[in-house]
Amino acid sequence: IDTSERSVGEDGLPNFPMRRCPFAPPAEYAEIRKKPGLSKVRMPDGAWAWIVTRHNEVKQVLGDNRFSTVPSTPNYPMIAPARASLLRNEHPATLIRMDPPEHTKHRRMFSREFMVKTVEAMKPYLNDLVDRLLDEMEAKGGSCDFAEVFALALPTTVISNMLGVPYEDQEYFHERALQKLDLKADPEVPLRAGREMREYLDGLITRKLEAAEPADDLITRMLHNYMLPGHITRAEALATAELLLMGGHETTANMIALGCLSLLLHPDQKDALVADPSLVVGAVEEMLRFHTIVHYNGPRVALEDVEVGGTLIRKGDGVLALISAANRDPAAFDDPDRFDIRRKALHHVAFSFGSHQCLGQALARAELQIVFSKLFQRFPNLKLAVPVEELEFRYDAFVYGIEKLPVTW
Ligand code: HEM
Repeated sequence: IDTSERSVGEDGLPNFPMRRCPFAPPAEYAEIRKKPGLSKVRMPDGAWAWIVTRHNEVKQVLGDNRFSTVPSTPNYPMIAPARASLLRNEHPATLIRMDPPEHTKHRRMFSREFMVKTVEAMKPYLNDLVDRLLDEMEAKGGSCDFAEVFALALPTTVISNMLGVPYEDQEYFHERALQKLDLKADPEVPLRAGREMREYLDGLITRKLEAAEPADDLITRMLHNYMLPGHITRAEALATAELLLMGGHETTANMIALGCLSLLLHPDQKDALVADPSLVVGAVEEMLRFHTIVHYNGPRVALEDVEVGGTLIRKGDGVLALISAANRDPAAFDDPDRFDIRRKALHHVAFSFGSHQCLGQALARAELQIVFSKLFQRFPNLKLAVPVEELEFRYDAFVYGIEKLPVTW
């Protein structure tokens, strides 16, 4: 329960609230949602931004290309100095920070790789991999850190394999991914981590181009189909490879660990899932909604005057259309702070909404559904090895998560 004091600036505007509770977004979001129209908040750099907390209005903003996602646009809300340093100095930007038509061109190159049909064809591989990792977990004896041994290992193996990145290098790129996402870091840290990631991938690209036979992986296809014919530059290819590598492992890893924790904390729901495996589809959507791990998504800037919820947002205003707030809106989800795998949560926006909605969502769903249809069948006595109060959560990371999840069985 969040009982901390509200932080208000000298001018009376609330300071942009940062998360303090492991299982809920800042309590201010609910208070702001009850006020008529939209409210303003003060960002850490002193600028103000509109804050959008209602489900329908968050979807309206994210679905409207008159709101830009390009961080160099004046008034783009920066949620932390470390984030500002990264987003303002990262060149070229990844497609996640582009507006149409540039965004459409870049995204179209990769949509086929992440289509539902492509992911369907991967399912036998994913099933075998989950079984193998559960075997490895069992071989640990009777306890392990689930976050590292299983939750991180699965998506890291999948995305490395898909992209053609050596899994042996996972410590290197995972460590840098965490540094890039750390909101409390010295602003130099995420920048340096980003540079090192791209240097690492640059070496990999050179090796792929020099290979006698082109390998059957996404990065090689990108080089041969788009970079060599001149549709994208080498720097753009590197940016995309980095985005896919980071987006493909860090998010899903945190979701698997937090999903497991939620079921351990709700044993009746865990038992129901074991008894009726068809509940897994709804359980995964509920985990995505409840935790909304990309919890500070999504900053935007209005490119034109637009009315939202009866408030006129002027051209050039900064806007925070918060998916973590939308997913706790009681107008969209009954009793939204309750974790309930039986609710129909499919209209959540944990993968965002509109043109930037998650490219990897079919893959993430497939991984999560396979994990939670097997984990508790295999380990029916899985338990937390420490009291929940001792768990360390990543409040100050752009992608929310948990440091370690010690379990026994
Ligand atoms: C975009 C969430 C897994 C690749 C996004 C966005 C969210 C999100 C909220 C929108 C970001 C924005 O607008 O700034 C998640 C969650 C995941 C997950 C919760 C897992 C549970 C994945 C996976 C991949 C991936 C497995 C595969 C590589 C991407 C890419 C984008 C994206 C490339 C950018 C799309 C665009 O801008 O057009 N994701 N993601 N994500 N995600 Fe995911």
